[in-house]
Amino acid sequence: MPGQVGIGVIGAGTISDTYLENLTGFADTDVLAIGDIFPEAAKEKAAKYDVATSGDVAVVLDHPGVEIVVNLTIPAAHAEVASQVIAAGKHVWNEKPLALDRVSGQSLLRDAEAAGLLVGCAPDTFLGEGLQAACRLTEQGMIGTPLTALALLQLPGPESWHPNPAFLYAVGAGPLFDIGPYYLTAVAQVFGPVSSVAALGSKARERRVIGSGPKAGEEFDVMVPSHVSSLVQYESGQSAQAIFSFDSALPRTLLEVNGTEATMLFPDPNYFDGDIAIRRRDRDEWEKVATTTAKSSRGTGVLDMARALREGRPHRAQGLLAYHVLDTMITITESVESRAFVEVASSVDKPPLLPEDWDPLERTL
Ligand SMILES: NC(=O)c1ccc[n+]([C@@H]2O[C@H](COP(=O)([O-])OP(=O)(O)OC[C@H]3O[C@@H](n4cnc5c(N)ncnc54)[C@H](O)[C@@H]3O)[C@@H](O)[C@H]2O)c1
Repeated sequence: MPGQVGIGVIGAGTISDTYLENLTGFADTDVLAIGDIFPEAAKEKAAKYDVATSGDVAVVLDHPGVEIVVNLTIPAAHAEVASQVIAAGKHVWNEKPLALDRVSGQSLLRDAEAAGLLVGCAPDTFLGEGLQAACRLTEQGMIGTPLTALALLQLPGPESWHPNPAFLYAVGAGPLFDIGPYYLTAVAQVFGPVSSVAALGSKARERRVIGSGPKAGEEFDVMVPSHVSSLVQYESGQSAQAIFSFDSALPRTLLEVNGTEATMLFPDPNYFDGDIAIRRRDRDEWEKVATTTAKSSRGTGVLDMARALREGRPHRAQGLLAYHVLDTMITITESVESRAFVEVASSVDKPPLLPEDWDPLERTL
């Protein structure tokens, strides 16, 4: 089938605005329908972004023009909604994490493969110009041979700004599952697949308070560790130290890759742009080597998937990669419980970098 790829969105919440802005702006994608368990929420977004059809989940699943469904529901619903999409004969893009457990992640990938359908999954920030440029420079040898990485995300917690933050402290989220995918996917693009992990976890508070929106002041339970400190061993022999925390008064993010010749400061993996700097072995100052501008933001991976579908090639932010990241995060949780190194069973190939002249806004289909 030639031409633009028809897109449906399920889940008309906070992050849907960014996706809808981008997916309605790309020349190669056409957003045809929005659905939500609260049809009113879907109708509101449809009016805002001039999308013709809106309502419940079925309006998206039954829409004949929708080829890829973008699943922006909460983590607990990701696997179930994605399975409904595959059963409806459509390709699916999930927000992260792919699923909450290995069994549902595996069965989603298996069912999709059997039906000849694609599974894509966030994050797609590693397709942003920031991380792509850092990976290109690393592949070109700017820091010598990459050896180790330090990944750090520490915040006081998202309940200060998110109006419905309870899910961010439930199974499937916490700093590890909510933020970990950005860092673990970015490092996978440099080091490849993980072979084993060890980790410690803790909780600063059993209950937290909603800081904004109509429910401000209400308390909710913290169901998962809100601080996770992990050691990650890659199949290649490279290693990383990764800390994910909602228990720090000091907000700080960092992704550094140490090579034999220099250390590279990567852009924040939660964004699509940023500066890149290196510190050479023989110099005692940072040297800025690139300033990057985002060509697009969330939805970039959906666009790559849409183009791949028409071009008959693999897309980059694949379900298999997201499954490996999910498997790594579940294994980190198991290590927190067992207090031992635990092997990561799955593996994945590094996705190829985007061409340097890749243009998300160009009409190619
Ligand atoms: N908010 C952010 O800044 C952000 C950033 C990146 C990724 N994400 C991810 O995006 C996803 C959604 O986050 P959000 O912040 O937009 O959450 P949200 O709670 O604001 O929105 C979720 C929407 O999904 C709908 N929904 C829930 N279960 C459903 C189901 N079974 N069927 C149909 N609709 C259903 C809800 O009614 C709601 O409208 C999460 O996986 C989150 O991790 C969020």
